[in-house]
Amino acid sequence: MLTRRRFLGYSATGILTAASGCRPLDFEQLSGQDVHVPVSQPSLREKGEIARRKHQFLGYPVNMNTPPDEFFLWRQQLRSVGIGDFAYNNVGIPFKHSPIPFNTHDFERELILRFGEIYGFSPADTWGFLSHSGTDSNMHGMYMGRTILKSRTGEVPKCYFTKEAHYSIQILRDLLGLETVYVDTLPDASMDPEDLRRKLADHPDHPALVVATIGTTFKGAIDPVDRIQKALQERESYLHLDAALFGGYLPHTSGRGEVLHVSPQDPGRIRYDSIAVSCHKFFGFPSPAGLFITTQSIFEEFNQQYSRIHDPEYIGHVPGTITCSRDAVKPAEFYFFSSPESIARQAEDAHAVLYHTDYLLDQLQSRFPDLHSHRVNDLSNTIFFKNPGQWVVEKYSLATMHLEIDGVTQDYAHVVVMPHVDRKLLTEFLTDLDQAAS
Ligand SMILES: Cc1ncc(COP(=O)(O)O)c(C=O)c1O
Repeated sequence: MLTRRRFLGYSATGILTAASGCRPLDFEQLSGQDVHVPVSQPSLREKGEIARRKHQFLGYPVNMNTPPDEFFLWRQQLRSVGIGDFAYNNVGIPFKHSPIPFNTHDFERELILRFGEIYGFSPADTWGFLSHSGTDSNMHGMYMGRTILKSRTGEVPKCYFTKEAHYSIQILRDLLGLETVYVDTLPDASMDPEDLRRKLADHPDHPALVVATIGTTFKGAIDPVDRIQKALQERESYLHLDAALFGGYLPHTSGRGEVLHVSPQDPGRIRYDSIAVSCHKFFGFPSPAGLFITTQSIFEEFNQQYSRIHDPEYIGHVPGTITCSRDAVKPAEFYFFSSPESIARQAEDAHAVLYHTDYLLDQLQSRFPDLHSHRVNDLSNTIFFKNPGQWVVEKYSLATMHLEIDGVTQDYAHVVVMPHVDRKLLTEFLTDLDQAAS
C-alpha cells in the first residue's frame, strides 16, 4: 500500500521530484517496493445472481426481456460470415459506397429505411444510421442543427429546451458551445409553446435549435411538436426530437402522430428535422445503440458544410458522422428488430405496456392515495409518486428525485412500465407498497 508516510518518503528521496512536470509516477523505479493496487476479482457467479433479479427492474426505461431464440441464431449466422468475428467497421455512412468491404452498411441502410417508414419518412428522402446510443443520436441531431443554422444565417443558434429534458442535452449543449434558453413547462411537464414564443421574442437575432422531448425522463411528458412548429414559423429553426424511450412504442399506439415526420392531416407539412430513439430501451436490444433518422435533404445541406472540413479522399466519401469508426456488429444485429415479425412483437409489447400502466395507475390511486401518483398523459408508461421507502426503492431499483409539486418539494420515485413488466410483478410490487405503508 502506498501510505502517506511512504509517499512523503519517496518525495524526499526525489522519486516524485523526478516525476514532476505532470508526468506520471515512474513505476519502474518503484519495482520491488510495497505498491498495492486493490483489484477485486470480477465474479461471474455474482453476475448470474444479479441477472436472476432482472425481471424486478421497475425504475429505469430498459426492456429486460431476453430477445427470442431466433435473435441468437441470427447472431450465430452473422458470426459464421465473419461479422463479430474479426474487425468489421461501419466507418462512413450506409448510403454511400465504402472502399472498406468489411462493413454492414447494407443491413444498416435497410433498417434505417424500415424504421424511417414507421416514423412516416418518405423512403425516397430518408437518411440516418445506427448510433452508439440515444445520446449519440441526440448529439448528431444537435450538431446537424447547429451546422445548418449557422450556415443559413451566419449566427450560432440559441438552443431551446425545458428543464425536463434529459441531462445529456445540457452536456451536448456545452460540447457544441451553445447558449441555452430554457422554456417553461405546462402543468403536464411538457414545453409551453406560449413561453417558447416569448423566449424567441427575447432573442430576435438568433436562429433557434429546439430539442423537443417525446417522453421526458422522469415524468413522461410529451412536448407538443405541432404547437412548437407554429411558434417557430417566423424564425430560422431546426427541430430535433428526443424520443429515446417513447419513440419505440408510440408508433404502435393511438399516439403514433406524436412521432410522425409528416402531419397525418396534411402530408405536405414536415413536423421535425431529425429524431433519436434508443434501441436498448423499448426494443430490448441487448446493448446500447440508437436510431438517428433525418431526411436526405437535411443531410445534404449539412454535408455541404461538413465536407469543407473533411477531405473525402481517405475513405472514399464524406463520412457525415461525428465518430469515424463505427460499430458494424450492432446494425447487423439490430436489423433483426426491423423484421415484420419483430415489428409485430413490438406492437404487442406497446399495447401491453400501456395496459399495465393503466392498471398500475388505477391501483396506486385507489389503494395508496397518500403516494400522490401522477401520470402526466395517457400515452406515458411512466408513473411517479412519493418515495415509498428505501427498501422498496432498492428492491425494484426505483429512480428517485426531489420534485417541487404545488409549491412543496418532496422526494419522488417513478416506475417505468416496460415490456417485461407483467401483472405478477405489479401484484408483488403493490403488496410491498402495502407492507411499506403499514
Ligand atoms: C428522454 C431521454 N433522452 C435521452 C436519454 C439517453 O439515452 P441513452 O441512454 O440511449 O444514451 C434518455 C435515457 O434515459 C432519456 O430518457
